[in-house]
Amino acid sequence: MSERTFSMIKPDAVSAGQAGDILGMLEKAGFRILALRMTRMTEAQARAFYAVHKERPFYAGLVKFMTEGPIVVMALEREDAIRKLRDVMGATNPANAAEGTIRKRFASNIERNCIHGSDAPETAETELRFFFSTADLL
Ligand code: RTP
Ligand code: MG
Repeated sequence: MSERTFSMIKPDAVSAGQAGDILGMLEKAGFRILALRMTRMTEAQARAFYAVHKERPFYAGLVKFMTEGPIVVMALEREDAIRKLRDVMGATNPANAAEGTIRKRFASNIERNCIHGSDAPETAETELRFFFSTADLL
């Protein structure tokens, strides 16, 4: 069944000029780009977006990283999109990411790991709504 998910190219990859290659890998993996925009998160937005991690030791560093430069946010669609996106992204820590994954190819370390993908249907809908309106997602 066709499903939607949310993804974001993080500031490290945008500033390194890797956004086009990452989008190409997503398209080759069968995702249709439903909506896409380049933007930048304020500190308040980054804190809210990653609020689930607010008690974690890496939270402050994560907020700083995610606000350091432009990001590319997108709505992606394909069969089993949420799970397939996590597969093509690879493990959070690129040292553990499988060959051929986006993080294996472009991530520097466990924090500067080039791409975000929603981890469940509820988070996908919340995260899509964080950046996109109903009209964007038709
Ligand atoms: P994401 O949410 O960005 O798609 O990444 P994920 O599900 O693979 O990983 P998650 O556990 O949700 O962590 C969110 C992001 O926080 C940074 N992080 N840093 N220093 C650390 O130990 C650490 N752990 C996580 C990464 O940028 C990670 O993607
Ligand atoms: Mg996550």
